[in-house]
Amino acid sequence: MKIAVVGAGYVGLVTAACLAELGNDVMCIDKDHGRVALLQAGGVPIYEPGLDDWVQRNQHAGRLRFGTAMAPAVTHAELIFIAVGTPPQEDGSADLQHVLAVAQHIGQHLNGFKVVVNKSTVPVGTARQVERVLHEAQQTRGTCVHEVAVVSNPEFLKEGAAIHDFMHPDRIVIGLPEGATGDRARTLLARLYAPFNRHHERTVWMDVASAELTKYASNAMLAMRISFMNEVALLADAVGADIDAVRRGVGADSRIGPSFLYAGTGYGGSCFPKDTRALAHSAAGHGLRMRLVEATEAVNAAQKQVLVQQVCGRFGGDLRGLRFGIWGLAFKPNTNDMREAPSRTVIAELLARGAELQVHDPVATSEARRALSQDLGRPVAEIDSLRFVDEPLDALLAVDALLVLTEWKCFHHPDFAAMAQHMRAPIIFDGRNLYDPAQLQALGFVYQGIGRRN
Ligand code: UGA
Repeated sequence: MKIAVVGAGYVGLVTAACLAELGNDVMCIDKDHGRVALLQAGGVPIYEPGLDDWVQRNQHAGRLRFGTAMAPAVTHAELIFIAVGTPPQEDGSADLQHVLAVAQHIGQHLNGFKVVVNKSTVPVGTARQVERVLHEAQQTRGTCVHEVAVVSNPEFLKEGAAIHDFMHPDRIVIGLPEGATGDRARTLLARLYAPFNRHHERTVWMDVASAELTKYASNAMLAMRISFMNEVALLADAVGADIDAVRRGVGADSRIGPSFLYAGTGYGGSCFPKDTRALAHSAAGHGLRMRLVEATEAVNAAQKQVLVQQVCGRFGGDLRGLRFGIWGLAFKPNTNDMREAPSRTVIAELLARGAELQVHDPVATSEARRALSQDLGRPVAEIDSLRFVDEPLDALLAVDALLVLTEWKCFHHPDFAAMAQHMRAPIIFDGRNLYDPAQLQALGFVYQGIGRRN
């Protein structure tokens, strides 16, 4: 099928590469000339395992092309995916200017019936707005007005596992407009997604508003599970229970399931924080309060401070003269994304208390330098008490303790003997519950996890 994807960001690139892999003829458009030039030259502007191979393979096969011009993409495509950013505004609501600008451009170049598929995470009612903008743009152009079906098809992929998630979806949620345009869209989308529905039907058809809300409700539900387990972990600490055992026990209930029950240093990333806020804001706009969603966010903000509290509990609030190693900066493994990463809160707080830090991340160093320079109000290169190191063990040289903030694979089975030799004191604050408390105690470490029984 002939497809255009507008936006060569995270969702757009993955969508374009995966749809091309399925044999479709895909044009991926972005207004950022530098980004497009890089992609045309075989580069990939984001870190996502495997994505570069998929992009290059499909480019060479001629199924995937990149460009900056909207007109040829719109003319080419029967299905046009909008996959541009919806960044949060100061009040927490989603900023729709990019989505609506794209709709305006599409409208200027329509040459027949098209299905416009919204992949960006947008508040309920956005598809209607897109429809209106498409209509107005055509009227302004003064030519005949073509019919368009604006569909909501939210994306559920996780950073670090994006290709796998796209190619093996639990479900494909599609919200259709009413009437004949909705029926035409359904026929085209059923054909597009047929490869995923061979063994059993994964598509969940619904109306547009429900599809838009499904995306927010899913992310809020997952975020809520995490915050709930983080609260239970605090209690586990207080009563001498082990959150890992509790997690296994709770998750074994088939009504609950085992995923997204891991206590840690709080959730981060570009989605959960933004989407929970946007959902609460959206509810407020209708005179409703979503108390669970608000509490989820408040618990998460507090959770990002838990490791700092543990450190202060051991060393006191004044950390001058103390040195700490930090393993992991990205908000989660297999990504260089630093958006809302708990490491940002922890690092700012420890530095403010006078600590010296040696930090290591296998992938996110340059992103982290940028993010932390912004948080700390000056370039990190000018901050003597914050050193970035290339090797995990170098982060441990003469430190008073190690803090583990991201569960990268390379941190799972480290050489504990070598670690202890490097450290001034063998103390680990494990923000991801990676290690076995009993094993570490036997090796002579002082170990503190999140809700772990020592
Ligand atoms: C999330 C959702 O999982 C995707 O389904 C959704 O498509 C995506 O948002 C989006 O809206 O675009 P993502 O933000 O990439 O994906 O990352 P997750 O793997 O969901 O992790 C989010 C955060 O939760 C991370 O900080 C992670 O460390 C934390 N987390 C996750 C926990 O603290 N405990 C867990 O049990 C699971």
